[in-house]
Amino acid sequence: MKNKILKLKKEKNAVILAHYYTPADVQELADYVGDSFYLAKIAKSIEVDIIVFCGVRFMGESAKILNFDKKVLVPDLTADCPMAHMVAKGKIAEMRRQYDDLAVVCYINSTAELKCQSDVCVTSSNAVKIVKALKNKNIFFIPDKNLGSFVAKQVPEKNIIINDGFCPIHARITAKQVLEEKEKHPFALVLTHPECEKEVLGISDFIGSTAEIIDYAKGADAEEFIICTEEGVSCRLMGDGPDKTFIFPDPCPCCVDMKLNSLKAILDVLEKETNEITIDEETCHRALLPLDKMLELAR
Ligand code: 13P
Ligand code: SF4
Repeated sequence: MKNKILKLKKEKNAVILAHYYTPADVQELADYVGDSFYLAKIAKSIEVDIIVFCGVRFMGESAKILNFDKKVLVPDLTADCPMAHMVAKGKIAEMRRQYDDLAVVCYINSTAELKCQSDVCVTSSNAVKIVKALKNKNIFFIPDKNLGSFVAKQVPEKNIIINDGFCPIHARITAKQVLEEKEKHPFALVLTHPECEKEVLGISDFIGSTAEIIDYAKGADAEEFIICTEEGVSCRLMGDGPDKTFIFPDPCPCCVDMKLNSLKAILDVLEKETNEITIDEETCHRALLPLDKMLELAR
């Protein structure tokens, strides 16, 4: 299957992008593996005819928005991020009516429709930097309450209004689960994604995006780490630190949508060029503004 994919990729001038949460064999095969920010930058700059995006729907959509002329295929059209939809209808308009000086800051984990109503996108690796750089005093942060609260703590000079969306996978990790692991591994460092609840962030040694967690673990002297994010990051963590031990809270956090990406599905979409992400031109044009602003402010 791998050889067939590699052959088709060459024939069709295609590239495979994969998020750190996808299955290990998908990460091994991909041309680029990374966090949402890295993958968005690659999607913007890559010169190919076809992008196969292994992640969840909003990631494929972002690649299409950043590359309207290219064909973006996803292995499974049903792989979606539940949090991407968690903003109540009419909420953004209501907030805009309430505050004249408001910036709507949209976590990239959101639908194209939400991006169209936003001023700037952020990812977990650049959210603090971007919110700090905005001139507006009032910020409506959508959809993630946990990343929003984390940013609000780092940027106290702004009035950050937080929407109540959340990632079901990260929100399921509890401080109790982490402390149980800490008791078994007292010297382990706790590395946490900002989509986790504040009680978990509060007992963490480091908070960052998936790529930042990986970089931190690589550079740290410690031998054991408790990893509070989706288990897919273990491929790169173990590759970078084969002598280190990575422990996940129990039950192990697993994003079922990310796991829908499989070699079989990649081969299928490359062969038949199915599962294309289509977004109308007007939506693409509008949703590009906050994504481009993110790329500009994060530079
Ligand atoms: P990253 O921005 O760290 O890649 O996170 C994406 C994501 O979906 C986290 O749940
Ligand atoms: Fe969405 Fe959470 Fe899965 Fe990330 S881990 S894609 S935020 S459901």
